[in-house]
Amino acid sequence: MKISFLSLFVLLLKSNGSLATDEAIISIFDSSSYFYPEHSKSGMVVSQEIIASRVGSKILNDGGNAIDAAVATGFALAVTLPRAGNIGGGGFMMIHLVDQDKTISIDYREMAPAAANTAMFLDSLGEVDTGMSRFGAKSSGIPGSVAGLIHAQENYGKLKLSEVIAPAIELANGGFLISPELEYSLNARSGRLKRNPSSRKYFFKEDGSKYSAGEFFFQPDLGATLERISKDGHKGFYGGKTASLIAEDMIQTGGLITLEDLQNYRVIEREPVCGSYRLSKICAMPPPSSGGVHLIQMLNMLEKWDLKALGHNSAGYIHRLAEVMRYAYADRSKYLGDPDFFPVPTDQIIDKNYAERLRSKINLVRAAISNDIEPGLSLNLEDLIRFREKQIDETSETTHFSTWDRWGNVVSNTTTLNFSYGNGRSVAGAGFLMNNEMDDFSAKEGASNAYGLIGGTANAIEPGKRPLSSMTPTIVFDSSGNPTLATGSPGGGTIITVVLQIILNVLDFEMNIAEASSVARIHHQWQPDKLFYESGVSIDTLNLLKTMGHKIDKKTRRLGAVQSIQRSHTGGVFGASDPRRAGSGAIAQ
Ligand code: DON
Repeated sequence: MKISFLSLFVLLLKSNGSLATDEAIISIFDSSSYFYPEHSKSGMVVSQEIIASRVGSKILNDGGNAIDAAVATGFALAVTLPRAGNIGGGGFMMIHLVDQDKTISIDYREMAPAAANTAMFLDSLGEVDTGMSRFGAKSSGIPGSVAGLIHAQENYGKLKLSEVIAPAIELANGGFLISPELEYSLNARSGRLKRNPSSRKYFFKEDGSKYSAGEFFFQPDLGATLERISKDGHKGFYGGKTASLIAEDMIQTGGLITLEDLQNYRVIEREPVCGSYRLSKICAMPPPSSGGVHLIQMLNMLEKWDLKALGHNSAGYIHRLAEVMRYAYADRSKYLGDPDFFPVPTDQIIDKNYAERLRSKINLVRAAISNDIEPGLSLNLEDLIRFREKQIDETSETTHFSTWDRWGNVVSNTTTLNFSYGNGRSVAGAGFLMNNEMDDFSAKEGASNAYGLIGGTANAIEPGKRPLSSMTPTIVFDSSGNPTLATGSPGGGTIITVVLQIILNVLDFEMNIAEASSVARIHHQWQPDKLFYESGVSIDTLNLLKTMGHKIDKKTRRLGAVQSIQRSHTGGVFGASDPRRAGSGAIAQ
């Protein structure tokens, strides 16, 4: 007999939290699925690059907690996954501390340099120069990754910072074997990387030829930078030699980041944005990510429908998903930005009554036309800004990893350089790539970023401001408050809808986490008015959706790449890496 998560959950409640049998584990491994997760009786690390997952898992074995493992994995990814793992970018970390029963979100998103301004990416005709905002030296925000990882480790880890950075230093100095996936991705981005002399030196052989799978890859300048961080902590990056190398590189290449900008970089701990979905509680990243707000908004809208009865990826199900996505992304375009600069109406957007108001507009047999839909709250931006001023008087490549320790602490972390290999520019002498996160700002009212996401005043460029993100590191809890799932994904604007579908696959369709990560996904983001889909959605379903008025994109897409851990009710955890990215891995402790 297959035992569902929901029935297990009810059983668990009835038995005062203790489940006597191994029924849960049996339900995961019964013969009804095509996909099976890794299982561990203690901890787990899941990331997009298997060497880095092994590093995290070893740290758990050495007595570290989930936070130590996450920080070690983060630094290791900066070495082994240069396209997305980074010290020149930023990200968001969600932590659940079991002893304190507390969930924290750490914002280490890049900040705009002091010299940034609203017109910085406009050409003489007032149009956005995307070459500049995506690939120019000015496309980099002040990196936050090192500050964020150190903040997490020093405040919530058990080991010394030097112990969790040591494996990354060893990988940079001692080298590691190039995987087929690294060979492929370096080659695919060779144009961008070779345009920058430092990146050409770091990522290609002396004669400019490419590295091949099976060869060793050494990064001594990166190793030296990591050694400075290991020795001097925060100051090893935001001061001293590393900071000088960054500032000098900016002067040489026309970038904006100064020594003072680096000194002024601050990590911010924010209240996570939480909501309920059926019996579960969902906590995710608040602004300046739009992820948590819209994830909860969409779940609120979906909650009243019996999704399971519609059938996974049926036309009826996909139609409902696409319609709620359309409304959420319309709101994103107007109301979301850095909350320290713009009064984001988070409470109104995640309000269940507001969700019901939007849901009542959805026609169950006909797709809406995005041009007819406007951001839904009747809020006037000028009023919002005036209200905020009163309050102030008083105060194309990302990667996700999840860690879980034997005590029950959980980390869900998404980090990015924005594009694959960021803007392709490495800091001379420091050995790492810079981000092009400034493109996530709205360079002009109504203009879209590289992911086609539209924005305006709320996300306009200002010095010190953080660009709006879609990264959605998420932790799901059962009704007793125990964490049950840690998940997140890369994918630009598609991240929020990818995470949404993982949660629905687990909670509504009772899939194990490997199956939930593997099955086909869809995406809608209001504008462009298109339904994107992965191969695996049947042509019959697509035809039905067309008759309902959906504008189906011509080509299939690959949507996201989740790295998740799910609690097993028998005491251990299940880990699953998305099969969409080669070289990823779930490593049991
Ligand atoms: O913060 C954001 O939303 C984007 N910079 C993320 C970019 C991304 O996921 C690209 N990766 N596939």
